[in-house]
Amino acid sequence: MIIKVLGSAAGGGFPQLNCSCRNCAAVRAGEPGYVPRTQSSLAVSSDGKAWALLNASPDLRQQVAATPELAPPQGGDLRASPIKAVVLTNGDVDHVAGLLSLREGIRFTLYAAGPVLSTLQSNSIFNVLDPKLVPRVALSPDRPTRLCGPLGDLGLTVEAFTVPGKIALYLENPAAGEGLGTREGDTVGLEVCDTATGSAFFYVPGCAAVDEPLAARLRGASLVLFDGTLYTDEEMIAQGLSAKTGKRMGHISMSGPQGSIAALASLGIARRVFIHINNSNPVLDDAGPERAAVEAAGWEVAFDGMEIRL
Ligand code: MLT
Ligand code: MN
Ligand code: ZN
Repeated sequence: MIIKVLGSAAGGGFPQLNCSCRNCAAVRAGEPGYVPRTQSSLAVSSDGKAWALLNASPDLRQQVAATPELAPPQGGDLRASPIKAVVLTNGDVDHVAGLLSLREGIRFTLYAAGPVLSTLQSNSIFNVLDPKLVPRVALSPDRPTRLCGPLGDLGLTVEAFTVPGKIALYLENPAAGEGLGTREGDTVGLEVCDTATGSAFFYVPGCAAVDEPLAARLRGASLVLFDGTLYTDEEMIAQGLSAKTGKRMGHISMSGPQGSIAALASLGIARRVFIHINNSNPVLDDAGPERAAVEAAGWEVAFDGMEIRL
C-alpha cells in the first residue's frame, strides 16, 4: 500500500492567506526550517494506479498538480483521472471543498459517514457532482467497507469509527449547548487496509480527545497519522490569533498530560505521524525545541509529498 500526504496543514494552510503570525511570516519570507504546507488530505493506493483520496481539500487542484501519480494517464481516454474514490472524515471546509474541484466529469465513488453525507445533501452546491458519475455511499460505523471505483475494487477497505469531535464550524448551533449540535459520526477516524497484503494504518486528522475505545483501537498499530493541529491548547489565544482554545475547535493538543503524545505513548504503535498541523503550531519550525520534543517522543511531523509504503 502506498500512502501519499497531499496536504499536511490544518484549515487555512501554511502560510494562511490572512495570517502574519511568527510561523506564517517566517515561511512567507522563506526562512530556513519553514516549509509551506497545503490543507489536510492523503492519497492511498494498493497498486499505484487507482487511488483513493482521504478528504478533499480546497488545495486539491494544486495537490494533484504536485503529484505525478494523480495525473491523467497518457494514451487512453483524453479525460480520465486515477482518483477513483474519495473518503471523508468530517464535513469541515478543509476536508470537503476539494469535491467542487472534482466536478469535471470525473467518475469516482464518494464515501462518508451518514451525518456528513446529509450535510453534503443539504448543500446544493455539491450537486455539481453528477450522481450518475459520483455515487455516494454511507460508511457503516465500525465495519470495513470495500472501496470500489467505476472500474471495480481498489483492493482497499476502510473502516470508519466515531472519535470525540465537533460538528463543522458552519453548522455549529450555540443554542444546542456545549456540544453545539454535534451528532454521532460528525467526526470519524479511518482504518485503511490493503486487502491483498493485510497491511493497515489509521488516519485520524480531527480528534478532540483520546478516550478508552480509541486507545484500544490504536493499540499495536503499524502506523497512525493523527491530529496535530495545536501544540498547546491555548496557543492561538497566546499568539493573539483567535479567542478559541483547541478544545473549543474540537482538537486535542500534542503536548501536556492530556495531550496526544502522552495518550498514545504506551500503545505500542510502530510509527506515529502528526498531520493537520495548524499554522500557529511551533512544530512547524524544523529547528525549534517543540519539533525536537515531538521527535524525541517518537513522532514525525508530516510534510506535503511525504510517502509511506506499508
Ligand atoms: C478545524 O479543523 O477545526 C476546521 O477545519 C476549522 C475550519 O473549518 O476552519
Ligand atoms: Mn480542519
Ligand atoms: Zn499564521
